Amino acid sequence: MLKKEKYNVAVVGATGAVGRRMLAILEERNFPVARVLPLASARSAGQTLPFKGEELLVKELNRDSFRGIDIALFSAGATISREYAPIAVSAGAVVIDNSSAFRMDKDVPLVVPEVNPNAIGPRPGIIANPNCSTIQMVMVLKPIHDRFRIKRVVVSTYQSVSGSGQKAVNELTRQAEEVLHDRPVQKQIYPHPIAFNCLPHIDVFLDNGYTKEEMKMVNETRKILEDETIRVSPTTVRVPVFYCHSESLNVETEKPISAGEVRDLCARFPGIVVVDDPANNRYPLALDATGRDEVFVGRIREDISVENGIHLWVVSDNLRKGAALNAVQIAECLHNR
Ligand code: A2P
Repeated sequence: MLKKEKYNVAVVGATGAVGRRMLAILEERNFPVARVLPLASARSAGQTLPFKGEELLVKELNRDSFRGIDIALFSAGATISREYAPIAVSAGAVVIDNSSAFRMDKDVPLVVPEVNPNAIGPRPGIIANPNCSTIQMVMVLKPIHDRFRIKRVVVSTYQSVSGSGQKAVNELTRQAEEVLHDRPVQKQIYPHPIAFNCLPHIDVFLDNGYTKEEMKMVNETRKILEDETIRVSPTTVRVPVFYCHSESLNVETEKPISAGEVRDLCARFPGIVVVDDPANNRYPLALDATGRDEVFVGRIREDISVENGIHLWVVSDNLRKGAALNAVQIAECLHNR
């Protein structure tokens, strides 16, 4: 992609939970756009979406959608990405893909701009946006790994329903009303009620007993931190929260580590905010992080059960830093280099 003053940007899945935020963030950050083309399924063609005081007409995605497009942001699921991202690249666009379709491909960079911007090569075709749970975790692991060398991470996630799309947000709202009014609970998105419940099950189960979501966190972390020796063991849990994922991290390092040093390293890392004042009930919360761009870290404390270990609580807006914001930041990397 040639550097330009302004770019033609397509957003695939523009009507979805992440796609709408992609449009909002392109506008908020004043990304230099010449034209923005919102694409979705035939169901949404003809709808309009707001952008910079105008109403943009949603078009149906097809094989000709990418003519004249410089940057295509994809967030319509892996099947759509697998089919249409190569078509967009052939048409001359750089694809920034929020799905899991290409993340582990050897030739596709997997990028968090604060962590590994140099993974983007000179002539990128597809650039992958990592999984939302991975992004907020590696933001915190990066400064710790650089200073103390991480040996092992045990992580439990508390993931909001918006990670499953707008329909899951609607399902939690509806089920909460059904429970409170003593009506039968209807399930569409999850195999069990999500209202007033926690489901230790995100994505499909694999032969090793982990879920696909959990193995994404393992493999993507190693790729982004460029270290195949880091051992990661996740348990991913869906909780009845609308927005923001929370994560409990336990990190074991080669070198001696202290809570004070980790607090300082995190405070200095771009995009991280330390909220760590338990005496005054101050720690990161999903409700406080909703709509925010930063990754919030707190409950930083030394692990009393191992020699070099640290605990952290990490919260971020999964639709923003976990998806749409990270994608727009990648586009900014392309523009600024
Ligand atoms: P649509 O609204 O027309 O169904 P979410 O993750 O919030 O469910 O959003 C998914 C996004 O992916 C929506 O914008 C949705 O469009 C889009 N999408 C789903 N299936 C297709 C398809 N076959 N072609 C193009 N876009 C699709």
